[in-house]
Amino acid sequence: MPALPSHPDPKPDEHPAGGSRSQCLVQDEPCTELRAAAHRAWCLTDPNAKAQAALAIGEQIASASPLIDAARAFHDDLRPGRPALPRLVHPRDVPNRGAGTPAGRVALLHAIAHIEFNAIDLALDAVWRFAGMPADWYLDWASVASEEAKHFSLLAEELGRRGHGYGDFDAHDGLWEMAMKTRDDPLPRMALVPRLMEARGLDVTPVIRRKLEQAGDAQACAILDVILRDEVGHVAIGNHWYAVLCRREGLEPEADWDGLARRYGASAPKAPFNVEARLRAGFTEAELTRWQ
Ligand SMILES: [Fe+2]
Ligand SMILES: [Fe+2]
Repeated sequence: MPALPSHPDPKPDEHPAGGSRSQCLVQDEPCTELRAAAHRAWCLTDPNAKAQAALAIGEQIASASPLIDAARAFHDDLRPGRPALPRLVHPRDVPNRGAGTPAGRVALLHAIAHIEFNAIDLALDAVWRFAGMPADWYLDWASVASEEAKHFSLLAEELGRRGHGYGDFDAHDGLWEMAMKTRDDPLPRMALVPRLMEARGLDVTPVIRRKLEQAGDAQACAILDVILRDEVGHVAIGNHWYAVLCRREGLEPEADWDGLARRYGASAPKAPFNVEARLRAGFTEAELTRWQ
């Protein structure tokens, strides 16, 4: 089991802001608890405002134990706040992302920025949507949301340096589909979002990085290094909570994964794997061998 951040359970009367507006999680909002702040950030449509709100949540949980209302049930909202652009199209219609030309690399960075933008919402969604979870669940996914916001911001700034911005290219909406399929149950959410979709990033990122390196794009490589390092931690958090929830339900994490995936229309991850990163993220050699 990888080392995971551990957080003390907050006591209801230990809100760091002491009931004042001085340490609010999101600026210009009344002081509130963590899940409400995550929901508010999830609803924001402006990409930079959403990223800033997620970063503010990260700073807050790093400096103090926030108030967490695990019992609160939110309205079952289906779609996070999104900007008018990028236009969402069929995957076959997204633009060429070859790394060999400056234009292709901009499109590639935009595609990764779109993934990171969705990743902010996915992590915020885990914080506000699932009631009755341990405090560490909320703190872990809030910290992931903050790191996804950092990834998005790094890419958005790099796009800016190249004369572009997030929204300039069409993108697809496949990433949100699995989030909605698993919105009723945190166990399949863990099985299929961090353990399947996010883990896929561990395999793909080094391949993309090699192409960018061959093209001499050191700035893009440096951003991917940050992303890959952090994503190992995100998948580790997903693996940790998947195992916790399996134990709670009397399921065997490895033996029961395939059946779970089938039920949600997902198939097993496809090799080749980044074995070293996946092992650090909590997968076992046995399951990687079984999927090869
Ligand atoms: Fe990320
Ligand atoms: Fe991630």
